[in-house]
Amino acid sequence: MLVRVDFNVPLENRRIVDDTRIREAIPTIQNLVERRARLILITHLGRPDGQVDDAYRTAPLASRLGELIARPVRHVDDCVGPSVENAVKTMRDGEIVMLENVRFHPGETKNDPDFARQLAALGEIYVNDAFGTAHRAHASTVGVAQYLPAVAGLLMEREIKTLGRIMTDPPHPLVAIIGGSKISTKIGVIRSLLKRVDRLCIGGAMACTFLKAKGLSMGRSLVEDDQLEVARSLLASAGTLVLPLDAVVAADARPGVPVDTVAVDAVPPEMKVLDVGPMTVERFLQTCDGAAAVVWNGPLGVYEVPPFDHGTDALAQGLAGSDAQTIIGGGDLVAALQKQHLAERMSFVSTGGGATLEFLEGKVLPGIAVLRDKAHA
Ligand code: ADP
Ligand code: 3PG
Ligand code: MG
Repeated sequence: MLVRVDFNVPLENRRIVDDTRIREAIPTIQNLVERRARLILITHLGRPDGQVDDAYRTAPLASRLGELIARPVRHVDDCVGPSVENAVKTMRDGEIVMLENVRFHPGETKNDPDFARQLAALGEIYVNDAFGTAHRAHASTVGVAQYLPAVAGLLMEREIKTLGRIMTDPPHPLVAIIGGSKISTKIGVIRSLLKRVDRLCIGGAMACTFLKAKGLSMGRSLVEDDQLEVARSLLASAGTLVLPLDAVVAADARPGVPVDTVAVDAVPPEMKVLDVGPMTVERFLQTCDGAAAVVWNGPLGVYEVPPFDHGTDALAQGLAGSDAQTIIGGGDLVAALQKQHLAERMSFVSTGGGATLEFLEGKVLPGIAVLRDKAHA
């Protein structure tokens, strides 16, 4: 079995700082191992740009997986070619081999048919459990499906079911919360969710663009002036938008900097809005009160620099105690919640960053489109 996983985990000095994506693929791996399959795991790591880069070798991923499942995971130094073919030939039932980073070959991101065929030649069935990479039409996510029967893994299935329900059969009342830095990267998601939700709360830097579009002055905050028209048209068409009432401001997002909490119509000219204030958190939580589900993407403030993580943390604390199904997505938001051990208190945490956004935009993800069982997943 050729199993495509997304073990593209955050690294610091070649050390894994968060192994969530590895853990989330374990049900699929265990299931297949128990059924005595021979597992060939494929992943990318980082963006090594078609060349071997020692900083992005998959050996540490293989050892971490081995520790987590308490089984040997053999690492091979390439992902195609005679040495790999030999290693695969001698595999026994229930054995696991992890291939070297597929992005060491330029054929991966080019979805080169020849490279895809070489990968496919290693196995008999292709399982895609890499939801986080499903928005990339690469050789190991799309190309291989030309040559092998292609099916979804258990993580892929769970992501498609949970996020898919929001898209096709949304529970009501449905509330969305969108934060993060830029409207321009989230406009597709905002438009798509506006068709499905009862209320949509906006936080993060992008709220500043909406507030400025309403005529308020945002000081030195991050505002996308070229998105003011877009923001205005969304404000005019949608009575569903809920904007911040207050903001935490400072001269800059630096540790120890003096901060103040002000109403959104009183942002001093020399200050930046760096987080939502407590009244806003209260308002967002009231909006979520009684909701069947809450979908949240993007942090409400500069969570990397305390105290500008307070708004995000307080909202998460509030949601953790609510009866609503809580669906969390976005690389930065998930990292923010993990820091405070709040991620595990949400109903569902997506493993996708870009993939989750594109899914919620309503785009067809190429890595899902090629799977035989996509309709049943
Ligand atoms: P996600 O990865 O969860 O989808 P984004 O990538 O859209 O989120 O945005 C995350 C970034 O937004 C973080 O780096 C955070 O510091 C930044 N951000 C949030 N609020 C503000 C703000 N008020 N001013 C500047 N940056 C902000
Ligand atoms: C991700 O982390 O979003 C996926 O692993 C895809 O990585 P990429 O953005 O480098 O294609
Ligand atoms: Mg991000």
